[in-house]
Amino acid sequence: EKAGHKHFMAKEIAEQPIVLADALKAYSSNDAKGIALPSGTIDFTKCDRITMVACGTANLACQVAKYWFEQIAGLPVDVDIASEFRYRKPVVSDKSYALFVSQSGETADTLAALRYAKERAAMILSVVNVPESSIARESDLALPIMAGVEVGVASTKAFTCQLLALAALALKAGHQRGHISDAEMAKHMDDLNLLPGILNQSLSLEKAIERIAGKIASAQDVLFLGRGSMFPLALEGALKLKEISYIHAEGYASGELKHGPIALIDKTVPVVVMAPTDELFDKTVSNMQEVMARGGKVVLITDAEGAKEASDGVWQTIVMPTISPFLAPILYAVPAQLLAYHTAVAKGTDVDQPRNLAKSVTVE
Ligand code: F6R
Repeated sequence: EKAGHKHFMAKEIAEQPIVLADALKAYSSNDAKGIALPSGTIDFTKCDRITMVACGTANLACQVAKYWFEQIAGLPVDVDIASEFRYRKPVVSDKSYALFVSQSGETADTLAALRYAKERAAMILSVVNVPESSIARESDLALPIMAGVEVGVASTKAFTCQLLALAALALKAGHQRGHISDAEMAKHMDDLNLLPGILNQSLSLEKAIERIAGKIASAQDVLFLGRGSMFPLALEGALKLKEISYIHAEGYASGELKHGPIALIDKTVPVVVMAPTDELFDKTVSNMQEVMARGGKVVLITDAEGAKEASDGVWQTIVMPTISPFLAPILYAVPAQLLAYHTAVAKGTDVDQPRNLAKSVTVE
């Protein structure tokens, strides 16, 4: 049932091109020029804000979605951690939609947050992997992510499928609200259709990433840096690494480096920089150079253009396929997952069942 892989996590990482292609099909209109939701309809012109709530990796998917909704749809987005949201007495207006993201659909804090929002928000949306789950049942509209069963405790394919569903929602919202034209929408759809193939190409970097993981396995601490929609990916890279390899890891927004974490940098601390060439690339590179000037060992994850421009003095470079900046967060999840996976394998930890963790957190 691991289909020839050593762990469920490896199988689930490898499956991503297929499940993403399925999900994309489910979210594409018949003419493939726009988004059609697989279940029901949403009118994003009727809300003035979206409040997104989730835990862990699902929360990081929401953090990426915030960049997308603001940029593509001009819609303000709040992102909250469910355990904070549920007790904070948050203000939820009746013009806002509340959106809950959960692989299992059973996370206790997320479900409690949903029940709080239900009394207040105009609509309760959820993005779930398990369609018969409590969170799906208690939503006005539950959107499936079509990832299939995820066994590994560390979320991989559910994360990228959550991102795909959220990207589709952001595009739908942008189009409905007149923020993107038919032509822009069609261009985004073309980009989306290339995604499964590009993701598949990125899997061929596994051997190179495994070698780097072998070197990272002896580190005590690892930092992950990213800017813009790569910032939540830096958080995800750090979360994945700490949960399965037990190496202390932190993700930071690149621009925050000099506000504290730069004090940690020395030659023993690998710093993973996630930087596709986009409009923020040069800024991220200058943060990376600050790390190198202090002896930090940089693992740069970028594309061919970025590698050409910025790999001087870099310890290790992972050269990703080129992708539209909008979809880069989905693609860059793959090297983050593979780095965590192979570091954990090198350390000999229980990859699929990391200590102290449960797949579904049904108590708070
Ligand atoms: C991390 C991970 C967890 C879950 C979190 C939420 O790899 O798997 O952080 O993302 O427990 O779980 P769901 O999505 O089931 O609500």
